[in-house]
Amino acid sequence: MVFKKGKKERVLSYFIKTYGCQMNVNDSEYLAGQLEEMDYKKTPDLNNADLIILNTCCVRKKVEQKIYSMAGRVSQIKEDNPEVVFGICGCLAQKEIENIAKKIPYIDIIFGPSQITSFREIMELYRQNEGKETIIFCDNREPLKLANKPIKHHSPITAYIQIMKGCNNFCSYCIVPYTRGPEESRAAKEIIDEIEELASKKYKEIMLLGQNVNSYGQGLSNKDNFLNLLSQINKIEEIKRIRFTTSHPKDFNLDLIKVIKDGSKICEHIHLPLQSGSDNILNKMNRKYNMKQYYNIINNIRKCMPDASITTDIMVGFPGETEEDFQETIKACQNIQFDSCYTFIYSNRENTLSPFLGEEIPLLTKKKRLWALMEVQKEISSRINQSLIGKTVEVLVENRSKKGIENQYWGKTRTNKVAVFSYSNNDSLIAKLVYVKVKKADAYTLFGELIYVKRE
Ligand code: 5AD
Ligand code: SF4
Repeated sequence: MVFKKGKKERVLSYFIKTYGCQMNVNDSEYLAGQLEEMDYKKTPDLNNADLIILNTCCVRKKVEQKIYSMAGRVSQIKEDNPEVVFGICGCLAQKEIENIAKKIPYIDIIFGPSQITSFREIMELYRQNEGKETIIFCDNREPLKLANKPIKHHSPITAYIQIMKGCNNFCSYCIVPYTRGPEESRAAKEIIDEIEELASKKYKEIMLLGQNVNSYGQGLSNKDNFLNLLSQINKIEEIKRIRFTTSHPKDFNLDLIKVIKDGSKICEHIHLPLQSGSDNILNKMNRKYNMKQYYNIINNIRKCMPDASITTDIMVGFPGETEEDFQETIKACQNIQFDSCYTFIYSNRENTLSPFLGEEIPLLTKKKRLWALMEVQKEISSRINQSLIGKTVEVLVENRSKKGIENQYWGKTRTNKVAVFSYSNNDSLIAKLVYVKVKKADAYTLFGELIYVKRE
């Protein structure tokens, strides 16, 4: 047990706030795992935590501003109670390194995404130092060390697994290659061993994570490529669903489409960030594909798997983006008919090339483009979801209704759509595969009726 010095004996508590992508969520799972091994207990109450960690993102300026404002709040807590330990980790920590300590007083520890599983050692140094100076560990070239590390998964049903770190693509707008460093793939055996252990603990769904999963395996033996990895996981009996994100269009080939089609557990959901529908902008973004190639991938997916869902990321207001460029993005969305789309306003990031590639677009223009794109996409998503009315979909039940509606449960379809259905209040369906007949749908949710429960 861990007790607080000089005060009444009690167990120490931690509070982790996570910003950004699923990779960060997974990093926080490792942090929580190490903390619980050190006998800390999770608390939902920021004001009463003994250790507060902000696991940060810096992909866009807006999220960065949110983090600084939260860090200001934590600094205030630390000022009132100097015994609180305040840590900042993740991509913003890696980008700013010691600058962050100058901007925010009272930070005790700063570490980058590559040091996530060294947290215990970092805390040890902090203790030896008796909190006299800020401890800083930010080296994005440090190799991945995930094997056998303690982890506290965010869900008892779905487990996130990082199969690689970093990114070598250097899209001209993106800060990730600088914060997460170069690509490095984990050995396939290490990944399979971990998934087999998760299967023995009754996990049903595996989400493979990487900035660019389909380039998995570079630097490993020839056999250890993404296609073989998917096929091997597909053989693990207890695992019922396999998902992966993010795919880069430049590496999304026909072989991968066939493996998804043939792998009975590999979900027919492909997240394929388009970013822009204009060849001119794609070229400036250094995306390494053009619209003709992107359409070709979409056609191949649809030919092989007509019911697959395809989702995307699109950014508006890239430097020099003309109204014509933007209209090409709208046209691409109308032609492709994405199931859903994450939309972003471009923001300048340190070290990236994009600010030098064209004139900055006024914020109001960016916002108007974002709203127009969102409106077009909402209509498309609604229409696609409504076309499922009357059909029966497989749902992995996650939990009771998020809105607290009695007798209502929700889960995800294989195509990654949220499906809601009623069932007399009995949690026995949680983590089960069920079939739901769709009765109603909007842009974000399918509403249906439980037809039957799949036998295990
Ligand atoms: N500005 C706005 N959006 C960005 N993204 C990445 N970098 C930026 C940036 N500088 C978006 C991309 C990416 C998603 C995760 O975040 O669309 O796919
Ligand atoms: Fe960033 Fe491009 Fe790498 Fe994705 S592929 S993380 S957008 S550099």
